[in-house]
Parts: sequence; structure tokens; C-alpha cells
Amino acid sequence: MAERPVVVPRLIERKRDGGALTAAEWRALVDGYVADRIPDYQMAALAMAVVFRGLSPDELVALTAAMRESGEQFHLADLGRPRVDKHSIGGVGDKTSLLLAPMLACLGVAVPMISGRGLGHTGGTLDKLEAIPGFDVRLSLAAARRQLERLGAVLVGQTPELVPADRKLYALRDVTGTVESIPLIAASIMSKKLAESLTGLVLDIKTGSGAFITDPAQSLVLAETMIRLGEASGCRTIALTTAMDRPLGVACGNAVEVEEAIAGLAGSGPADLMAVTIALGVEMVVAAGLTTDRADARRRVEGVIADGSARERLAQMIDAQGGDPRVVDDPRRLPGAPIVEPVAADRSGTVVEVKPRVIGHAIVVLGGGRSRADQAVDPAVGFRIPVKPGDRIDAGTPIGFIHARHPDQLPAARAALREAVVIGDVATPLPLIGHRVTVAGIEALT
Ligand code: URA
Repeated sequence: MAERPVVVPRLIERKRDGGALTAAEWRALVDGYVADRIPDYQMAALAMAVVFRGLSPDELVALTAAMRESGEQFHLADLGRPRVDKHSIGGVGDKTSLLLAPMLACLGVAVPMISGRGLGHTGGTLDKLEAIPGFDVRLSLAAARRQLERLGAVLVGQTPELVPADRKLYALRDVTGTVESIPLIAASIMSKKLAESLTGLVLDIKTGSGAFITDPAQSLVLAETMIRLGEASGCRTIALTTAMDRPLGVACGNAVEVEEAIAGLAGSGPADLMAVTIALGVEMVVAAGLTTDRADARRRVEGVIADGSARERLAQMIDAQGGDPRVVDDPRRLPGAPIVEPVAADRSGTVVEVKPRVIGHAIVVLGGGRSRADQAVDPAVGFRIPVKPGDRIDAGTPIGFIHARHPDQLPAARAALREAVVIGDVATPLPLIGHRVTVAGIEALT
């Protein structure tokens, strides 16, 4: 029997009124949108209906599959190694990908890390990598595959052919107030990750004031939703919820974060960055099926830092992708800001907050991020913020350092740092690593 053509207004009305669409209807919508047969205004109305009505579990699986299959896929099943990626929901100072890709590659896991650019107040791995002179993130899938075979890890941007439905839909959601929807976020992220033909995926679900989802309870719902999608496709999926009520690590920007990641691979990264990186690495080892013994996984992950092999692998990856591998031994080869200015605490007390959103927006104002998609990024600018909520500090000691290009950027950057770092009496930060979520349920880690 011939399928009836979809009548888009009827589907929008059904979703608006709380009904469910079939898998065939979702596929027809996604295919029609990618082929420009369905206009933006109808897709925007449908997305808004989903924001209010949600998706049933079957609809979510159908939408994610239709998006994943909307273009080319990264076929890697014949690599002969477990294929595991890590995805972060986005934050400030989050440079764990730069450490984890070489670390897991040293452990025999293939890491096809397809990363993104900065979004809103959050930084992006691709912008950080491009701070390395010459580094090329625009590899074809064939070139990325060759690097995976040779070095076990590749850090690249999404190609135009991979999940075109998400590229189009995400741009539409960005300007129609339809980003903040758990099913739409889950379908967007998981369609891209599952197109990498992964055997395992570890999700870093950022939570707190600097995360896209600020409510810790909703973060857990997002984690469970994405885990169900991953597991339904045969991809072992594990999530950690981690704190984003303060930046991760000390460095926030692009070149400064690359420098901190390199220090981390030499065993001298900030304690919070190292704790989150090791915890995610342990889950990646488990998701890869290398061991079920978490203490063993930890020994392996810490071992590739201690013996220098992960640091060496990062240099090889930089070299393979056209970058200057000498930055690993000599970070002064990274672009440096002409002005580095400390900002002192104006009173003694306890650091109560370090607001990531304020810092993220201030990096954009310095030129280290974008307010429009077509803007270039200044790799050298940013902040180094050595204080954490709960630290006792004396008046006059630095609360942070501004890395700026021009003196006229300093007043706004100083004001942002003073707004971000709140000094008071009692700090109540979120636990650095809150929960571990698997298909079996939620485990509190505190
Ligand atoms: N990141 C994505 O890739 N998609 C979303 O919808 C939100 C964050």
C-alpha cells in the first residue's frame, strides 16, 4: 500500500494537542526539512510544540534515528577496537577532551571525537584546538579514519555531510527559543554521537548556574534520556553529572586552556580538572569494555599520564593535524596575550562564588568567543582564576588574571572578574562529581 503524504499542518496540530507522531511521520518531517521541502516556519512551530508537549520514548527514538540517518555516517565498525567518545553538555574552562582523547588512545581505544565550537557563554573544543598554530580541525571523514587507525584518536569538527538535519534544526532552534527542551537536546546530541558508530559513550552532564540545564534534577532527566537513546542503539552509555557552578580548572579561554591541558597531561593540572578528567577516563575505559574493575580502570588512566605516553600522543596528534607539536614541550609557542593583569581581592573572606556565565560572557567580550557565528576568535585572550568557592583569601591577593589584547578591554574585564568572584562568608558549591548514571539507574557519588 502506498504511504500517504504527510500533511505538515496536521502533524503540528497533533503535537500541539499532546498527541504522538509515528516513526514514519518523523522521518518524513526530517527528510523533508533537510531537502528544503518543509519550510523553517513549519519546523519552528513543530519544535515549539515539542518544547511544550515533549516526546514519547518511541518518538524520541524515531526522531533521533531519522536525524542520525539524514546524511553520511562515520562507519568505523571494522576498526577492530572499541570506539568510545566523551561528550560534554558545555561549560566554562572545560578542556577535558584535550586530555582524554590522547589518554584513551594510549589504552587501545579508538576515540573519534567530533567536537563543536563555543556556544553562548560556553567554550568549544574546536576553538581551543585552533589556538595551536597550524592545527586543522576540518579533516574529511576518510582522513579522520586514517588518523584513527594510526594514532587511535582524532579531534575534528562536524563535516557538512554528517547529520545535516541537526545542523539545520539547531540553527533554527537557536533563533526560535526552542533550545531548552530535554528531548530536542537529547536527539540533537545523540544523533551526532551515534553517527560516529560508537561502542561506548560517556556523557559529562554539566549542572549548576553555568550549565545549559541549571537544575540538577533536570540534568539527571537529560542523562537518563540520552542513556536510553544510546543503549537502544547498542552503544554502552554512562553519564557523570559534574559541577558547572564554577569554571573547571584555572584557565578560561583558548590558548590558556590548551596550556593547562598540556600541564594536566604532565601530571600538574589543577586538582578539580584532574579529578573530573580521571573520573571521565575511568568511565570511558569501562564503556570500552576493557575492564569492569574501576580501581583497575583508574590505574590504567593514571598510568598513561604518569609514564608520559598520553602527552607524547597529544604531540603526535597535533603533528598529524598540521599543528606545531613543539607547543607540548614549550607552551610559550602558543599565542600569548600582550597584556596579563592581576585583579586583587578588595576584601578578606571566603570565596562564595565564581560565576561561570559571567566569565564566559566576558571571554566573548574580550574576543575569545563569538556573539555571531561568523566571528573570528582571538586565541590569546581569557582569564586565569586560581580561586575556588570555599577558599579563604586576604584582601589584596589576586582573584584572577586578565589576558587581554588591548588596554581598552581592561575596564570591562576587571568589572566582570569582580562580579564573578563573590567574597562573603559561607560557600555552598555543588559536589564536583555528583552522580553516575547508567542504564541500571542513578548512583549518588557524594
Ligand atoms: N548541544 C547540542 O549539540 N545540541 C543541543 O541541542 C544542545 C547542546
